[in-house]
Formats: sequence, structure tokens, C-alpha cells
Amino acid sequence: MDADHIAEDLDRVLLDEGQILSRLQEMADEIWADYAGRDLLLVGVLKGAVLVMADLLRALPGTAPMDWMAISSYGSGTKSSGVVRILKDLDTDITGRDVLIVEDIVDSGLTLSWIQANLASRSAASVEICTLLRKPDASKVHVDIKYVGFDIPNEFVVGYGLDYAEKYRNLRCVATLAPHVYA
Ligand code: IMP
Repeated sequence: MDADHIAEDLDRVLLDEGQILSRLQEMADEIWADYAGRDLLLVGVLKGAVLVMADLLRALPGTAPMDWMAISSYGSGTKSSGVVRILKDLDTDITGRDVLIVEDIVDSGLTLSWIQANLASRSAASVEICTLLRKPDASKVHVDIKYVGFDIPNEFVVGYGLDYAEKYRNLRCVATLAPHVYA
């Protein structure tokens, strides 16, 4: 789905598909160089990171496995609750492995700092974070994010995996919503 298909629901496009894909290619090249000779496992957080994972993984210049976790974070609202519950755990034993968490967005960072601590406690060799988007509040909780695609303003965004009440994940770009959508 393109922005044109739902123009009435959108306020403005922050990042188009071309910008996202070329940034992901740069990040993939950097990750590949950093993890040369290591046992890299990409861990995605469902469902928002599905599209980032698909494009980041394909942009890598070599093969790497992926695994997934699902946790509860947002309901249909727009604020993080900070309450984290594992809905689906990893299929993989990460003992001794170099885990790279792949995220769509870091907002308060509450979700991510919890996931990072949880994975680190399983004796992984390393647990780093890669996110396509980062909001300014991410600096409030200390989360060390190794790879950031774009810093964006403190606005609620949808598209490229990000939803509002499970809608708009299939939008190719990242955009803000028109006020009437929240009404
Ligand atoms: P945090 O715990 O505040 O960092 O929130 C992390 C999760 O909240 C992300 O993985 C998203 O699922 C969701 N989220 C945060 N900001 C946005 C947004 O602007 N649009 C859609 N989802 C968001």
C-alpha cells in the first residue's frame, strides 16, 4: 500500500520506501563487517519488526539466521505502558551466541531495555540492538542502541510494520496520521 492509497488518513510522509531501503542497506553492510567471524543471530520483535527484518536480512551480503519473540506492549493506544509480557519466546538456545535484536522503533525504550536484559540473562555472548527508528524519549531510559536507521520527531508514526490499532503496517513509507483518525 502506498501513501496515495490512503492519503486522507495521513498527515505527512516522514520517510519514503527508497530512503528506508537504502539506509537498511548501509546498516546491513556495517553489521556484516562488525560481526565477521562471529555467530550472529538476528532476533525480531513481532509484529512491528517483520518488515525491517525482511529487508535487513536480504540486504546482508551473506547468510544469517533469524528468530522471533512476541511480547505485549501497545494495545490500540499510542503510549507505551512499560508492561512487558512474553507471548512467544525464542525457538533458539542463545547461549554463547551474538544476538542482534532487530526493532522497528524505540520510543520510551522501556520495552527494549527489558528484552535486552532478558536475553542477556540467557548467557548470550553479546546482545546488541538495531532499530530502524528512534524517538527523542529513547534517551530517558539507558538503552545502548548500536545501530539506528533514523532519528525521528516525537510523533506517532505508522507504516513499514508500525501500526495504529493493527492498521497501516503494510504502508510502504513511514508517515504521521491525520488527527481525524484518532477521533
Ligand atoms: P517503547 O517501549 O516506548 O520503546 O515502545 C516500543 C514499542 O511501541 C515499539 O516496538 C512499537 O511497537 C510501539 N511504538 C512506539 N512508538 C510508536 C509509533 O510511533 N507508532 C507505532 N508504534 C509505536
